[in-house]
Amino acid sequence: MYDIIEHKRDGRALSPEEISYFVQGYVAGEIPDYQASALLMAIFLRGMDARETAALTLAMEHSGDVVDLSGLEGIKVDKHSTGGVGDKTSLAVVPIVASLGVPVAKMSGRGLGHTGGTLDKLESIPGLTTGIDRERFFHIVREHGAAIIGQTGNLVPADKLIYALRDVTATVDSIPLIASSIMSKKLAAGSDRILLDVKTGSGAFMKDLDAAIDLARAMVSIGEEAGRETVALITNMNRPLGHAIGNALEVIEVVETLRGHGPEDLARECCALAAEMLVLGERASTIDEGRALAEQAIANGSAFRKLCEIVAAQGGDVGYLEDRSRFGRDAIAHEVAAPRDGYLGAIDTTAVGTASVELGAGREKKDDPIDHLAGITLLKNRGDAVRAGETVAVLHTADAEHLSRALPTFQAALTFQENEPEPEPLLFARV
Ligand code: URA
Repeated sequence: MYDIIEHKRDGRALSPEEISYFVQGYVAGEIPDYQASALLMAIFLRGMDARETAALTLAMEHSGDVVDLSGLEGIKVDKHSTGGVGDKTSLAVVPIVASLGVPVAKMSGRGLGHTGGTLDKLESIPGLTTGIDRERFFHIVREHGAAIIGQTGNLVPADKLIYALRDVTATVDSIPLIASSIMSKKLAAGSDRILLDVKTGSGAFMKDLDAAIDLARAMVSIGEEAGRETVALITNMNRPLGHAIGNALEVIEVVETLRGHGPEDLARECCALAAEMLVLGERASTIDEGRALAEQAIANGSAFRKLCEIVAAQGGDVGYLEDRSRFGRDAIAHEVAAPRDGYLGAIDTTAVGTASVELGAGREKKDDPIDHLAGITLLKNRGDAVRAGETVAVLHTADAEHLSRALPTFQAALTFQENEPEPEPLLFARV
């Protein structure tokens, strides 16, 4: 291990054997944290080339179980977002794509830091479970075309260990380390083709567009090297997506979107992502055709019916999707007003996500309970005109103490200005 650290410290490329020696040894508990930390910092500072990053990903993928989806018919297409605020696209895109015959066997995650997680959102539907064993998971995908569950079995134990160490050694934001962390989990989850939604901007882990494109290229190259066709869209996280942030609030917004009444930005992004998945799944031959099919699945109600089918199959009470008022509301709904006439300018979207966590929608510690009704409804977003005293957002929480923490965080996240800010695209690039 000393030699491996020394090679990387001196800027040399590591061999696949050196990389798998490290991954296997660390998972087996034979390499101490201090040596693993030193190597991670050397990788952080010196980087890794495409071959090293691919070798690290493959070693991590095979550090535990891998899922074999070959027993399921069709081209299975997976989707992964690098994490955002108000990013509920998976909940809409999975039923859109499944309703058009492309199977999705999806393993999702929980909220991480200021970002929300698909599992937490889904679990705000009473009765719904995401802790489903593999046999039932396959059965639901076979019968209904899609399922969204939590990670089962011992998938990529290397990532759990390495991620925890990165978190405390200032080595998280390294492109080869992020790319191998995400792609090892995607490869182990077994889908044939992969769509990556790489978020960039003030609410993303990658704040800078060039870095987001580099990360997307690194991940696409790993996917291709592993024989899985992979496409990445780089999307805007300089503002929350849609109006709703928080678990039940986001589920309600997904239902509105699948019924054709969702916020325009969210509907457009969902159709762009669905179009890519439909092309990857060979259901559409062009992106335009895929987008038209996705729009049709929303307009004719088949995507909403598919969401209800998946929710019912996972034990959820579909009555809540049909009558959203059944979700109820938190006791406190605090309105935030614009301080002046003008426009809503730059948004510190990470701080908006943090405010939502402080209201109770996320966890500050690993085992904290979640308030599924807590969160933020944005009535205005970046670029919208506002009048002094007009309500721009409503903060929902069950606890006045949570509100007193979240309110200053949220207020500090918004900038009001005299002139209309330059509009920004929803989609920056495709790799
Ligand atoms: N998400 C992951 O799964 N891993 C990273 O390293 C960063 C974001």
